Amino acid sequence: MASVTGLEGIVAAETELSMVDGEKGLLIYRGYEAKRLALELSYEEAAYLLWYGQLPTEEQLVDFCVKWSGLRALPAEVKAVIDLLPQEFEMMSVLRTAISAAEETNRGTWSPSLEGALRYTALVPSIIAYRYRRSAGLEPVEPNPQLGHVANYLFMLTGEVPLPAHVKALTAYFILAMEHGMNASTFAGRVVLSTQSDMASALCAAIGAMKGPLHGGAPSEVVHMLDAIATKERAEGWLRQRLDEGQRLMGFGHRVYKTFDPRAEALREMIIRLSADDAWFELAVYVESLATRLLDEYKPGRKLYTNVEFYAAAVLRAVNMPSALFTPTFTVSRMVGWTAHLLEQAGCNRIFRPQSIYIGAMPETAEV
Ligand SMILES: CC(C)(COP(=O)(O)OP(=O)(O)OC[C@H]1O[C@@H](n2cnc3c(N)ncnc32)[C@H](O)[C@@H]1OP(=O)(O)O)[C@@H](O)C(=O)NCCC(=O)NCCS
Repeated sequence: MASVTGLEGIVAAETELSMVDGEKGLLIYRGYEAKRLALELSYEEAAYLLWYGQLPTEEQLVDFCVKWSGLRALPAEVKAVIDLLPQEFEMMSVLRTAISAAEETNRGTWSPSLEGALRYTALVPSIIAYRYRRSAGLEPVEPNPQLGHVANYLFMLTGEVPLPAHVKALTAYFILAMEHGMNASTFAGRVVLSTQSDMASALCAAIGAMKGPLHGGAPSEVVHMLDAIATKERAEGWLRQRLDEGQRLMGFGHRVYKTFDPRAEALREMIIRLSADDAWFELAVYVESLATRLLDEYKPGRKLYTNVEFYAAAVLRAVNMPSALFTPTFTVSRMVGWTAHLLEQAGCNRIFRPQSIYIGAMPETAEV
């Protein structure tokens, strides 16, 4: 039996939630193309689809949104825990700690419920906005029940009702990023839940996995990269130097997609409308095509294309999101996918228990 590094090609679960076809560049959520949903649905409608398996009727949607917005207020003990954390704590660490503090102790641990999924999903933007404003010396902004999940997130961060164009672009990003099969964070969450542990513990594991630069941390690195490149003239020298040093270009490459990431394409379309004459965006498009060409030259046959994070960076920048909040914002969107997977895992649970091959020393007396 040989080990498979990174578990590449190993099927760890069956899921009805999404299908990622890396050869055709397709992402399907419960029978619908995610690209289409991103342009046509509200985030709440797409979340309903993932959690309940079908789109809501108008009446169901109204009830669902009322219930959702009623769960946004942060409990006092969660605020107190957040306030105790040192200023240097990264937002993802704040989030992980605050979700721990928000654990529902009175509900028992098993099995996870849709109510829990909705509650944690509703709380995450409030945690981020509360911490962000407190760290900046600003008064926290209470959630606005008139606004949907995406608009309210921007509202709680800035204290202002956001522009409809910003809400539309961020909604598209949120829907495209909400679910993506057996990625590292979803897998981490499912593994924890499979021990019959509680939803908060599984979400803390998922948040920990999301924090790493190879998974959720890429978009802010994309902004740093484009800021460092600064002009089209400098782009080729900068990219070649990185590749000569054996470093990775953030926002490129994917374990599953061996063609264009459909999420990146959809976001590129969306962002063209928002930032058509923006010099930074023009540079991003230029760097995308140059980097794809250089990756083909340096890594022939590896099929490295732009991934969702590259244009996620452009969307987040266009809606004035501070780069320190890029990974936490990705987390806001992914909460629905994670919790849907946890519910699915609970419905057909068997504890995850892979094996390892021992390659260490043997005692001298051992028979081989
Ligand atoms: C996403 C990612 C982690 C997938 O990793 P993976 O499937 O394990 O791919 P591997 O690490 O096996 O890479 C295969 C080859 O392509 C190269 N490669 C992969 N992504 C690369 C990138 N972004 N820049 C340069 N080279 C890259 C690797 O160096 C490796 O080269 P080698 O065969 O000469 O050793 C990887 O592509 C990456 O690190 N991308 C940058 C981070 C990023 O954008 N993350 C967001 C993902 S949505």
